[in-house]
Amino acid sequence: MSANSVALAYLGAAILFILALKGLSSPVSARRGNVFGMVGMAIAVLTTLTITHNVTYILLAIAAGGVIGAVVARRIQMTAMPELVAAMHSLVGLAAVLIAMSAFNNPVAYGIALPGEALHFSNRIELFIGTFVGAITFTGSIIAFGKLSGKLGSKPLHFGGQHWVNLLLGVVMIGFGIAFCITPSWTPFLIMTLIALLLGVLLIMPIGGADMPVVVSMLNSYSGWAAAGIGFTLNNNMLIIAGSLVGSSGAILSYIMCKAMNRAFFNVILGGFGGGEGAAADTGGVQKTYRSGSAEDAAFMMGNADSVIIVPGYGLAVARAQHAINEMSKMLTEKGVKVRYAIHPVAGRMPGHMNVLLAEAEVPYEQVVEMDEINNEFADTDVVLVIGANDVVNPAAKTDPHSPIFGMPILEAHKARTILVVKRSMAAGYAGLDNDLFYMDKTMMVFGDARKVVDEIIKAIT
Ligand code: TAP
Repeated sequence: MSANSVALAYLGAAILFILALKGLSSPVSARRGNVFGMVGMAIAVLTTLTITHNVTYILLAIAAGGVIGAVVARRIQMTAMPELVAAMHSLVGLAAVLIAMSAFNNPVAYGIALPGEALHFSNRIELFIGTFVGAITFTGSIIAFGKLSGKLGSKPLHFGGQHWVNLLLGVVMIGFGIAFCITPSWTPFLIMTLIALLLGVLLIMPIGGADMPVVVSMLNSYSGWAAAGIGFTLNNNMLIIAGSLVGSSGAILSYIMCKAMNRAFFNVILGGFGGGEGAAADTGGVQKTYRSGSAEDAAFMMGNADSVIIVPGYGLAVARAQHAINEMSKMLTEKGVKVRYAIHPVAGRMPGHMNVLLAEAEVPYEQVVEMDEINNEFADTDVVLVIGANDVVNPAAKTDPHSPIFGMPILEAHKARTILVVKRSMAAGYAGLDNDLFYMDKTMMVFGDARKVVDEIIKAIT
């Protein structure tokens, strides 16, 4: 292909990537967005094949990666998606480091130096940046994967003076990077890479499980910038554009998640929060009373209501109760009850987790309402069914200035006339906090696995 045709094809692919991101911003257009992304990627890969040597190796690598990716994607449980994403990012980081090493080893083959000519200064800087960002992404993502999959403890791991050690290592790493830029040789390059690999571990270890999804999104952003850096080295516009899109969208997502969880971005990076999931809620030593009832009671209350709002959370995902809940809401709708779902931006364990589950169960989009839109309507609602959710409906976020989640926006379920809460016990959610909503006079707890309880409600409605 001529240089102009390649540029044109890459431009087309870049436009498709932007349309893909736009499509993915709403469940209605997400499928179309995915198609744009796939077509864009196919164009990008095919175009790159026309300008590369060793096409056989590349095709073999694509086939091997494609098969592994397809098998893993089919097997993965939705709740394990964040750890899979973390594992994938580690590969992007590793690829950035390996490409940089290979380009430094043979710059002529990469077209960034003429035979006998020294590597240009700007290329050295690009290699340095691409390598250290890639190395931090690589080991940081492995630690994130370990924590999310439970292979490493999710508790924050600290040691005295850690931030100073990290700072010192960062300065030394940059020093060796500068040394490499001045005199390009393997020694400073390798020392700089090793320190960056160590930094990836040290930066992510102190971060607790609760902040891990923000970290994954941040590492996603890093992996994009690492790819963009390598794109400069290889003079590949497609890699620069795609890397920048990943880098900036990951950064924006991290910011949105921090805001929705009421966490300051720098506190997340500096670590130390979370890891208390499943722990008994701390009630401050006070014996509080709550009311509990059966699935039949819940069915009776919802069947006689004019309006029901369902608040799904992490427990719905664990129990895979999305299809059952859709069936239940269809039955209620047939009885003339107005049913809607209220979506909190960080309900579950990954961005858009609830939207994905409900879309999978083919819940009509018009029933799915975002937090800002539905919060005014709780006060006029007969019954709220909180199912496997906890932190996202904890009123302490509004009323208790000492609560760690104070200031986090919540779904105001406590304002409804009657509240039903389906969960297995009185245990805490992700933030490890007790929830006053469960002890309100108008609240009824229905204990049990979400799927089992909804199945029982369905039987009781018919
Ligand atoms: P959580 O506050 O974690 O509460 C989930 C509740 O589900 C638990 O209290 C648990 O109680 C219950 N549960 C678990 N398995 C269940 C099952 N099989 N059947 C019924 N209930 C079950 O969840 P949430 O309200 O969705 O809030 C999400 C939390 O995750 C927030 O704190 C948020 O900040 C955090 N977080 C989210 C994200 C993203 S991007 N979504 C990222 C990082 C952190 P039992 O054990 O008693 O059943």
